[in-house]
Amino acid sequence: MTTGDYTVLGLETSCDETAAAVVRRRADGSVEVLSSVVASQDEHKPFGGVVPEIAARGHVRTIDAIARAALDQAGTGFEGLSGVAATAGPGLVGGVMVGLSFGKAVALARALPLVAVNHLEGHALSARLGAQADYPFLLLLVSGGHCQLLEVRGVGDMTRLGSTIDDAAGEAFDKTAKALGLGYPGGPALERLAASGDAAKVPMPRALLGRKGFDFSFSGLKTVAARAAEAVVTDQDKADVAASVQAAIARQLTERSERAMADYAERHSHRLFVVAGGVAANQTVRRSLMEACARQGFDFVAPPIQYCTDNAAMIALAGAERLARGLTSGLDARARPRWPLDEATALSDPLYATGRKGAKA
Ligand code: KG4
Ligand code: ZN
Repeated sequence: MTTGDYTVLGLETSCDETAAAVVRRRADGSVEVLSSVVASQDEHKPFGGVVPEIAARGHVRTIDAIARAALDQAGTGFEGLSGVAATAGPGLVGGVMVGLSFGKAVALARALPLVAVNHLEGHALSARLGAQADYPFLLLLVSGGHCQLLEVRGVGDMTRLGSTIDDAAGEAFDKTAKALGLGYPGGPALERLAASGDAAKVPMPRALLGRKGFDFSFSGLKTVAARAAEAVVTDQDKADVAASVQAAIARQLTERSERAMADYAERHSHRLFVVAGGVAANQTVRRSLMEACARQGFDFVAPPIQYCTDNAAMIALAGAERLARGLTSGLDARARPRWPLDEATALSDPLYATGRKGAKA
């Protein structure tokens, strides 16, 4: 390892994936994933969603073995690490506490710096795990809990341009999949089914179409989808609902992103659009966004599929980028159920207040 290289153990436990990874960030900014281990908990399947208490217990049971596997595969041992990064929020706080406490224990025992990472910052930087994505860029972050457009100028330096006012896009995928009896998580299953469906079959609402700004809304679409799912008779009907919902979600993500691109292009000559988060794994969504980028003169980057959904490589990378800038956390870092990426906007804009009345995503 040369000076200026950072090799970081990342830990991710904010939802139902227990994940650990080792990532090396070199002084020249290049990134190498030395290992990435993700164990998805399937104990939640019978409940059709993630049960927080079950998730936290699952992380306690497996984090040790997963971290060990990541270190073994990377071949670095603890000795080869420059730091430990753990997700400190936002997420299911019981699970977050497990990964963060584990990270603190490693940091203390091995005298390594700790970085408490915002899970969303991990997603925001994840495209850099597979391609060069120089700052600044326009980011669409679409996952199970979040849907927002951000201007990313660098690590910890982001402005939110818009956000969902109700549900996240991933939630719309998951709830429709549940209504169609496809199980959890629904996004990938819905995408498979949609391949044999007709996207023009079920008319879907176009939320916020004429509205200024860059916000999203998926609750109306979700309700129409649930009603259509109830009326399903044949397998073909089912596939048609899946295709129609997927197309409607892709359309809204694209319309709002394209609008943000036009605005962003007035302020920046470096025109790069990045999509990240679980929903970025969807090929229809990717294709549609790629076409919008071509129309608007933007380069398009998405993370490799395995780094779209939750993983620890993105947490290790965020940790390494922070370490490279001398940004570390104390052993008193708290687990945070809510933690907006752009805290200034979140505090000043009551629509997105972080209290109980704020938007879920
Ligand atoms: O980023 P992620 O793993 O977790 C959160 O931070 O939320 O995103 C999970 C979400 C779920 O809603 C899941 O259904 C959705 O991403 N998802 C997909 C696909 N793969 C995962 N949605 C549509 N198509 C997919 N292929
Ligand atoms: Zn996530």
